[in-house]
Amino acid sequence: MSGYVLAIDQGTTSTRAIVFDDGFHIRGLGQQEFPQHFPHSGWVEHDPEDIWSSTLATIRTALADASLSASDIATIGITNQRETTLIWDRDTGKPIHNAIVWQDRRTAEFCRKLVADGHEPEITRKTGLLIDPYFAGTKIAWLLDNVDGARTRAEAGKLAFGTVDSFLLWRLTGGRVHASDATNACRTMLFDIEAHDWDDDLLRLLRVPRSLLPEVKDCDAAFGTTDPGLFGAAIPICGMAGDQHAATLGQACFQPGMLKSTYGTGCFAVLNTGDTRVPSSNRLLTTIAYRLAGRTTFGLEGSIFVAGAAVQWLRDGLGLVERADRTGPMAGAADDAQEVYMVPAFTGLGAPWWDAEARGAIYGLTRKTGPNELARAALESVCFQTADLLSAMKKDWTGASDTILRVDGGMVASDWTMQRLADILDAPVDRPVVLETTALGAAWVAGQKAGVWPDMAGFAERWNLERRFEPRMDAVTRGRKLAGWADAVKRTLS
Ligand code: G3P
Repeated sequence: MSGYVLAIDQGTTSTRAIVFDDGFHIRGLGQQEFPQHFPHSGWVEHDPEDIWSSTLATIRTALADASLSASDIATIGITNQRETTLIWDRDTGKPIHNAIVWQDRRTAEFCRKLVADGHEPEITRKTGLLIDPYFAGTKIAWLLDNVDGARTRAEAGKLAFGTVDSFLLWRLTGGRVHASDATNACRTMLFDIEAHDWDDDLLRLLRVPRSLLPEVKDCDAAFGTTDPGLFGAAIPICGMAGDQHAATLGQACFQPGMLKSTYGTGCFAVLNTGDTRVPSSNRLLTTIAYRLAGRTTFGLEGSIFVAGAAVQWLRDGLGLVERADRTGPMAGAADDAQEVYMVPAFTGLGAPWWDAEARGAIYGLTRKTGPNELARAALESVCFQTADLLSAMKKDWTGASDTILRVDGGMVASDWTMQRLADILDAPVDRPVVLETTALGAAWVAGQKAGVWPDMAGFAERWNLERRFEPRMDAVTRGRKLAGWADAVKRTLS
């Protein structure tokens, strides 16, 4: 069998398909952005047909780019934006509404009520999550309550819920398979991460009928084969993981204490805690890092909603730079004497603050503040937020004390930002050779399950460092900066 593996990486703003060969090199790539819909303030939706058509188109482009046909592909791995919620009709396959995206805050009121009614401890105990509109559960409830006839049809078993992985699997298999994997399921607020099953009490609490839900499998499982009508041959789908979990795998963070952080629109740090399910006392999430061959590896996760999006705002919102990659050199040229702090709470603050009402702010402006200082403030905000996560992780678990951060995502191309990150964290930051970590992780899960790629040890051996950034900042400067950031956050919280 060939060693070509195709990864589908269905993200928040774009869909990508990548063909890897068995040396983990990219042989073909397709990428497509798709529209974001903002029907009301704080609401974010995707048209499911855009998700689907961009998936089909990028797979075909990737195959053509690699000069391969579907029959050359040994297996497919799916990875995806997590928590984004879809419900579709089981007979027609048609979604009943747009997908409600993870960033969407429409269920904030419902979440506040759940907290006020004292449900958070039970939800945290069972799911490892906190109550927040971020997760899929309250989005499902919203769809059932707000789409005409949805609840009745759901109760009659006519509808199916899925996060994007599940929806794509359904469509790719021609409507034959309704399944998800443990990493996506554990972001719903309905899945007991110890019992590995949907929890009946939580289903009752959120009024979600069990018949709506997909079967939950390991990340490496026989998920089905693609409908031969789609690409000309039936390709087995053997891997599935939420994007941050796939990145954890792609970074070969297989040992307890290993930590990765992915800098895309937002930033998501996942710390491998091994077989131990570490509860957080510092508002982090306990999550299933991955579940392979029936064995669960747990993680502690810190989720920041705005990272690269702060740079996008400088570019598209303020028109301060033409290209995002200009911000690193600008930050390097900023005046050291000016301490400008940006708290990019455009859509509230995620971990460890979880303040949905907070909004962005900039502090320390003077008449001398210019574009360079603003660029530095935006990039530093990402470093400070990561520092908050790492410090919460260290408080939660001693295994995090000497960790090295493995980084990936668009922002890590900036040497200035990575050096500043190491300085602010006071910890080494490792940038790998392969930066397509999320797609590679999904490809590896599928490839090893299909028997065409190496096992965990073999894969870890081939993870290659491109550059390590060692901390260089003196303790006094670091302390002053962290104190300035803490003060800025305090003033920003709602
Ligand atoms: O939890 C949301 C996350 O999975 C989205 O990631 O890379 O699509 O912004 P990304």
